Amino acid sequence: LERSFVMIKPDGVKRGLIGEIINRFERKGYIIKDLKMMTIPETLAEKHYQEHQQKPFFNELIQYITSGPVVAMILEGENCISGVRTIVGSTDPTKAAPGTIRADYATNIRYNVIHASDSPESAQREIDLFFK
Ligand code: GTP
Ligand code: MG
Repeated sequence: LERSFVMIKPDGVKRGLIGEIINRFERKGYIIKDLKMMTIPETLAEKHYQEHQQKPFFNELIQYITSGPVVAMILEGENCISGVRTIVGSTDPTKAAPGTIRADYATNIRYNVIHASDSPESAQREIDLFFK
């Protein structure tokens, strides 16, 4: 079984979407192996998004992700990593498929409600960062 790291971002928490979002993953059949609410320190945010360090939106991204509490979790299930990404939808909510979380709950590429690991390597790295 595969494990993925998923995080409801500060906008998702502020808007009261924790239950709605977790419900989708539970209905699908993924198991919540661990879960916590936390405000991410800047150092952890920079490590988590280190692949985007050179992007023009990096500072804005760090500011956003540290702007309030997030809900971080480890999900487990068959083909969990790509399966979760499918439920989450494309980064840009205007291009996300109807019925995905980002299509249903977001309008802006900056504030897109949720994060999910994009590969087995990122999943391992992110689980270690947040849960060890
Ligand atoms: P994550 O699951 O959060 O990693 O999203 P992703 O994998 O779908 O997208 P990516 O890793 O490319 O980007 C990380 C995050 O940076 C996005 O989810 C957005 O919150 C933000 N982001 C991505 N592209 C842009 C952009 O063009 N402008 C701004 N302001 N933010 C962006
Ligand atoms: Mg990403």
